[in-house]
Amino acid sequence: MSRITRFTTAALAAVVLLLAGCERPPVDPVQRGYRGTGMEVVYNPRTVAEQVPKNQPPAPPGPLASNDGPKAGQVYQNVKVLGDLSVANFNRHMASITAWVSPEQGCAYCHNVQNFADDSLYTKVVARRMLQMTQKINADWKPHVAATGVTCYTCHRGKPVPAQIWFTADTTDRKSNFIGNLNGQNTPARTVALSSLPNDPFTPYLLEAKPIRVNGNTALPTGNRSSIQQAEHTFGLMTHFSTSLGVNCTYCHNTRQIGGEWDGNPPQLVTAWHGIRMVREVNNDYLVGLTDVFPAHRKGPTGDVAKVNCASCHQGAFKPLYGAPMAKDFPELLSYAKPGDGLPPPLSEATRSVLYFNVGSATLEGEQAKGLVQLVATMTAQPATKVTISGYHSASGDLASNQELAKNRALNVRDSLTAAGIAAERVVLDKPLQAEANIAGEDPVARRVEVTLK
Ligand code: HEC
Ligand code: HEC
Ligand code: HEC
Ligand code: HEC
Repeated sequence: MSRITRFTTAALAAVVLLLAGCERPPVDPVQRGYRGTGMEVVYNPRTVAEQVPKNQPPAPPGPLASNDGPKAGQVYQNVKVLGDLSVANFNRHMASITAWVSPEQGCAYCHNVQNFADDSLYTKVVARRMLQMTQKINADWKPHVAATGVTCYTCHRGKPVPAQIWFTADTTDRKSNFIGNLNGQNTPARTVALSSLPNDPFTPYLLEAKPIRVNGNTALPTGNRSSIQQAEHTFGLMTHFSTSLGVNCTYCHNTRQIGGEWDGNPPQLVTAWHGIRMVREVNNDYLVGLTDVFPAHRKGPTGDVAKVNCASCHQGAFKPLYGAPMAKDFPELLSYAKPGDGLPPPLSEATRSVLYFNVGSATLEGEQAKGLVQLVATMTAQPATKVTISGYHSASGDLASNQELAKNRALNVRDSLTAAGIAAERVVLDKPLQAEANIAGEDPVARRVEVTLK
């Protein structure tokens, strides 16, 4: 081989390698807005062909039995969530969760088969919490999951550990060695479609509630305090949205206004907004609370529990399983009863009280004042605890007077606690916080004080 041929071969090989990273045409563009506005979603038929078989619902379950006759809660010893089901429907449910979560391992994955009432396997404890979580998603997050809803299969797909989970990245500073401090970016990470964007866009937005919105709303850069790095984090998250749903940015955003107004954007933007809040709740109230239940080998590099993101349910499809409505076959997963004895409430209810105020008012009234009585009782019963009080105000109106109001609300709550006999050093005040702008502009839940027990 001459030098030139060898060179050409090497160059060609390099080009082929480079192109392998791109999407091979032809692709199918689908128009989703007026002509000329660039409102198109581009699908790659080969990716779609791969996705379709992965997103098929499982075989339908047997028919629902009658719910008359003795209930599982009476017949069995240790049934806390599904106690209202008839024994036949309870067994149908057990057969279904086995097919959804542990078809290879069977009942023994969650049960000590010598004694089904025994809670000694962590998997059973987790599964019971997941039952509550699934009910909560279907009952209270309809703005996201609609009537389609979810079952265990939506995330698990026949595997005990769902294929799409995430852990907080290990951000140990490596300044002192050759790798340097990468600040969580510039390593092509799968979480952000192999780009150099920050590779953990989940912790700030899907666990914590850091603001995702970074655009200024003035022509000149005045008042907008978001940094370029914050914008990079937002883009990291958006890349995750696109890849999780198998869509482009235009599936949710109008090309003429990414951010800003909600009007004029596809309705999917609003669905996604609720989805972000739903995922935060699932992670904070259900998974974080299970941290100590999971064995060490199931935890992440920093000892945290596995968490959910958009891909956990969507797995590459615009709607999980292309919108197959499976939850309707399991009415027991569509609503939840008040937790029975011995069943812990969601983490937020146990450790956080939220007190709401009227417009412009800093006084607690009616039912809200009663919430304080409950709080005092809890604090008296647990003398080692402290509370942090955060006053929130709405994003609209005059900032200075809003902050003043939020501060007065927090002070009022503090004074009521100390008046009820709680020592002042057990009460810590946070600075006033602005509630996130809500879709409707004015948000009734913005006017609140949150009290967190620690
Ligand atoms: C993914 C975990 C999981 C699998 C797999 C599973 N179960 Fe269960 N099972 C549970 C949970 C959680 C409860 C408690 C439900 C509650 O509190 O409402 C339970 C409760 C029971 C009970 C009631 C026991 C008592 O006396 O309190 C029986 C019986 C039972 N399961 C049978 C089965 C059978 C049979 C299978 C296999 C076909 C099975 N389960 C598979 C999680 C599981
Ligand atoms: C929104 C997604 C989602 C849904 C819906 C869901 N799970 Fe899970 N499940 C998870 C995640 C995340 C984990 C943690 C993964 C791990 O175990 O490391 C998990 C773990 C589990 C485990 C422990 C498995 C192990 O080996 O560690 C069991 C058992 C389980 N789920 C049962 C259920 C049951 C039963 C349902 C339906 C009532 C359900 N899950 C619904 C996301 C989900
Ligand atoms: C599944 C729907 C969805 C997809 C796909 C999506 N976004 Fe978003 N995007 C949202 C939502 C919802 C928000 C607002 C989040 C909030 O307010 O909490 C947002 C916010 C943004 C913001 C911040 C806007 C502001 O006001 O500062 C930018 C920038 C953005 N997206 C860019 C993109 C880009 C670029 C893509 C494609 C890579 C993309 N988005 C894909 C739903 C989506
Ligand atoms: C617990 C499972 C689950 C999780 C997690 C989840 N989704 Fe969804 N999502 C659904 C279901 C179910 C639907 C279908 C609702 C329907 O039929 O209208 C849906 C629908 C959507 C839609 C509307 C699609 C359309 O064409 O109308 C968007 C957009 C969306 N999800 C975005 C997101 C984003 C962004 C995230 C992460 C922040 C997310 N989802 C996380 C279950 C989930």
